Amino acid sequence: MNFELTMLPVAADINKDIEVIIVIDGNLKHRFVQDKKLLKRAGFNCGQDETCLLIENNRLYVGADSLQSTAIRRATASAIKALKGTKYKSLKIASYTNNGCTYSVRAMVEGFILGSYSFDTYKSKKSKNRIKLITISLEEYNNESLSIEKVSLQVHKGQIIADATNFTRDIVNTTPDDCYPEVMASIAEGMAEDTGLVCEVLKPKKLKKEKMETLLAVARASRHKPRVIHLTHKPKNAKKVITLVGKGLTYDSGGLSLKPADFMVTMKSDKSGGSAVMGIMKAIAELNLPIEVHGFIGAVENMIGGDAYKPDDVLVAKNGKTIEVRNTDAEGRLVLADVLAYAQQEVKADYIFDFATLTGASVVAVGHYTSSIMGHNKEVQNLVVKEAHNAGELATALDFNDYLKKTIKSEIADVCNISNTRYGGAITAGQFLSEFIDQEHKDKWAHIDIAGPAFVEHAWGENPHGASGAGVRMMIKLLENLVSEHTH
Ligand code: BES
Ligand code: ZN
Ligand code: ZN
Repeated sequence: MNFELTMLPVAADINKDIEVIIVIDGNLKHRFVQDKKLLKRAGFNCGQDETCLLIENNRLYVGADSLQSTAIRRATASAIKALKGTKYKSLKIASYTNNGCTYSVRAMVEGFILGSYSFDTYKSKKSKNRIKLITISLEEYNNESLSIEKVSLQVHKGQIIADATNFTRDIVNTTPDDCYPEVMASIAEGMAEDTGLVCEVLKPKKLKKEKMETLLAVARASRHKPRVIHLTHKPKNAKKVITLVGKGLTYDSGGLSLKPADFMVTMKSDKSGGSAVMGIMKAIAELNLPIEVHGFIGAVENMIGGDAYKPDDVLVAKNGKTIEVRNTDAEGRLVLADVLAYAQQEVKADYIFDFATLTGASVVAVGHYTSSIMGHNKEVQNLVVKEAHNAGELATALDFNDYLKKTIKSEIADVCNISNTRYGGAITAGQFLSEFIDQEHKDKWAHIDIAGPAFVEHAWGENPHGASGAGVRMMIKLLENLVSEHTH
């Protein structure tokens, strides 16, 4: 999908197959809306994401609640979805900036690319998106005059960010038989080569040498050997150092604490955290942000077998802490324990963020569409929540507390991998991870549980059925803003 910008007014002067018009907040009186009567006859209510295709006029109308980025992104995603199956090859659209702020142009571009995503690797008939060219006119909804340079920069950024999100979606959607740890590592290597990142892949021998015994225990029963992937973006003018850690369970059967049949389906998505880290690294490299970013991914498959790790085992993590295993399905935190310890040994970072489909409890607590943000530093937590919203993702903070911390105590080891209560499972998992964050890093760390939004079995907003790429847009926005603060 290509984008071009033009100074020409949208309605008359640009010759494209179809025009897309966004109706903002029900305002059918706006000069952009030329088919008021027809729209009324068609029963178009201007609701957010509602579309109306007027074939005879070659116009597609779509509703948006406001000029806010979130509303515009969803609107263009709906528009492009509505055009699926039609023969149109090119479309034109005006600019809809929020008081001249060009972020909404970026959101518009993101919406088109995110909305046109479909995963049909396994379909014998591929659903082709025929729209190849999108022309954006600088003619603007509120008559603001726009700088073509500014707009074109936002178009470029929107493309990079949406492409990175789709890259993450593709990895997550790929089946466990086609995407196991070794494959994840080779995807990372290929991406690194394309973008100029450095990629180091740690294999079992090295993992053993690094004493990552809890990660190795989870991996033991699988015929697919584990990998830890370390991607690095290190520009000369780096203003900050950031560490990202991702849970990359290419399949989570639950292990000997086997998941019930209904809960096992979709567990190919347990690699969403690691896949998000890969997408973020890709975009950071392409945007060439002046920030040093390290992405660590623990790629492991959790299976059953004669060699499986067991409830009752006691494991020694890389940082020396002992863990009583009472449930082999709480495996993500075991993998992350070692990868977090390794990441802190390798890199002295200003911030550490981890991404994981860690708990079903997070989904119960906050729903399918929202990520849970945990940590010891309220400011860092709030920063993630704010930037998630700015990027069009939903996130909310969950607070740790001393009482829940006591529920992961073990009688025989330093800590237990599950809590002794049924409640507060997202938080107790977060507090378990905290045991593997060094004291000096506690305030720099946030844990992002993406179990809800990472994989949803229906389409929502700009997201398709299946993998959403949760975490990618929120973190790119956060990192962009971290460095732009410092250039001013
Ligand atoms: N990968 C799952 C969490 C999950 C559940 C992600 C549903 C997405 C949707 C994780 O490894 C797990 O199984 N967690 C257990 C923890 C429990 C045994 C303490 C859970 O949430 O049930
Ligand atoms: Zn599990
Ligand atoms: Zn898991």
